[in-house]
Amino acid sequence: MQKIVLITGATSGMGKAMAESLAENGYQVFATGRNIPNESGHQNLFYRYLDVKNNDSVKGAVSGIMEQFHHIDILINSAGFGLAGPLEETPFEEIYNLFETNYFGTIRVIRHVIPVMRKQGDGLIVNMSSIGGRIGLPFQGIYSSSKFAIECLTEALRIELKPFGIKVCMIEPGDYHTGAIHNRHNIIPTKDSPYQKRLKNYFDLLDKNITKGGNPEVLGKLILKIVTSAKPRLCYKSGRFTERITPFARNFLPYSIFGWFLARFYKINN
Ligand SMILES: NC(=O)c1ccc[n+]([C@@H]2O[C@H](COP(=O)([O-])OP(=O)(O)OC[C@H]3O[C@@H](n4cnc5c(N)ncnc54)[C@H](OP(=O)(O)O)[C@@H]3O)[C@@H](O)[C@H]2O)c1
Repeated sequence: MQKIVLITGATSGMGKAMAESLAENGYQVFATGRNIPNESGHQNLFYRYLDVKNNDSVKGAVSGIMEQFHHIDILINSAGFGLAGPLEETPFEEIYNLFETNYFGTIRVIRHVIPVMRKQGDGLIVNMSSIGGRIGLPFQGIYSSSKFAIECLTEALRIELKPFGIKVCMIEPGDYHTGAIHNRHNIIPTKDSPYQKRLKNYFDLLDKNITKGGNPEVLGKLILKIVTSAKPRLCYKSGRFTERITPFARNFLPYSIFGWFLARFYKINN
């Protein structure tokens, strides 16, 4: 039987790359987001409206698939965006908004899909974390916190859902050249801000890192490896070698040294 895949955040970037790769490899893919194209260009790829911040929208998308196909085999939670700037100057609405999408949005979708997979006695849930879900990125503490929360949720669900035959894992990407560069919310300090000098080049550097980042098609290959694995690992890191070893360096180096390197990398030491 053809496997049914539901992907959030599949209108752009890594979600889109994973959706296309799975569709090309015979999976029936429901690629979702808010800005969906009229045509998918592939017979196995169907775009559906799904706003992870809206419970009715999630419920509608899941029940729509169930009415048509009666099962969902794979759920990939890729919807998300970044938020950068000094915490002190970040409006609370921005913080809530980010968590509503990156964390509560993921939970919302998972909660609708668990009963489906539990009844099937089978399923795979793949959550999108980040290397930033393993280290607190300076001036991106809210984004990093949302990904730390995803890491924690993934670990907990992996054990919680195992008896129902539901596998849970996550991907920790480094920088990839996606829509993230335009979709990140930047809180730019005003010229009177005490953060202005340190953050002068910070946002340009973030953009540069994303522009120089990997091709999201790499994620298209990785997801095939994950969905065909009999026993998916808890975590799949994806990115440059230096990005993949950063979480290990964080664990092994004294934080005074690691933190110094991190600040130096972002050019925000003073
Ligand atoms: N790019 C990187 O370097 C990088 C690194 C580590 C982790 N990540 C994570 O990877 C995931 C994918 O990011 P990306 O880089 O591929 O970014 P992207 O190209 O900006 O794609 C983000 C996707 O999220 C969707 N989205 C945003 N808000 C949504 C909402 N309320 N409901 C439903 N969909 C929503 C967008 O679709 P619509 O606008 O159509 O709704 C879009 O399809 C994110 O979770 C991100 O945090 C990215």
